[in-house]
Amino acid sequence: MPTQPMLVREAGTAADPQTREVELQRRPLTRPEAAEVMAQIRRSPKITGYSTAEWTGRRDTFVLVDLTSGELLGALLTHHLAGNWCEIAVVFVLEAHRGRGYGRLLLGGALRTLAPSRKRQLLFFSAEGAMETMVRSAGFEVFPDEDSFVRGRPGRSIYLRSIYKAQWLSNIYRIREMRRKRRELDCSFTFKVALLETKKEPSK
Ligand SMILES: CC(C)(COP(=O)(O)OP(=O)(O)OC[C@H]1O[C@@H](n2cnc3c(N)ncnc32)[C@H](O)[C@@H]1OP(=O)(O)O)[C@@H](O)C(=O)NCCC(=O)NCCS
Repeated sequence: MPTQPMLVREAGTAADPQTREVELQRRPLTRPEAAEVMAQIRRSPKITGYSTAEWTGRRDTFVLVDLTSGELLGALLTHHLAGNWCEIAVVFVLEAHRGRGYGRLLLGGALRTLAPSRKRQLLFFSAEGAMETMVRSAGFEVFPDEDSFVRGRPGRSIYLRSIYKAQWLSNIYRIREMRRKRRELDCSFTFKVALLETKKEPSK
């Protein structure tokens, strides 16, 4: 389900600005696209990891592509959860294309596409910087950790610590990657939590 192509003006010279026509597509990644994204994520201490099967059809995924060259610029993976919850599990712009506004296009476009489902969007992220800027300006409420997210909300606590964890960890690739990254990249995997509540329809 492609969105309207967007023309993105990138840094070039003032006399010769570079432009790129990009499109957000809601589709599984091809195997080569998944291999590229997974190889870069394997080096990242901020993302646990998602398997080839998840990137190529098992999950609801979005890609941002250069329409002229077909080049993959970024990918986003959502995890539809039990109840009325959805996790934006990965927002990833390929290393060579960061800092040009693609992260914002990817997250904003995916959220607008998902909005009619009226699910609560959950997003975990591990560092300040572009991700925090993006989620705040997309309207998410940001909690410094899981404890603050569930404090005084027993429903959230039960959901996060049992239902969510069980669904999220039911993947051998992820468990293996978390172990490897803890060992090799010294990751702690402590995340901030961002929540975007479903907007209620205005009453008529
Ligand atoms: C996080 C990520 C998706 C951002 O993508 P990007 O294309 O580089 O980001 P953008 O160029 O769209 O910038 C998004 C916003 O963050 C801001 N930003 C960029 N770097 C920043 C920084 N270091 N600190 C604060 N804000 C920053 C930008 O100014 C922009 O805000 P604006 O639109 O209001 O100007 C990308 O860096 C990435 O893939 N990182 C690795 C994966 C990751 O950590 N993902 C998050 C966990 S799921």
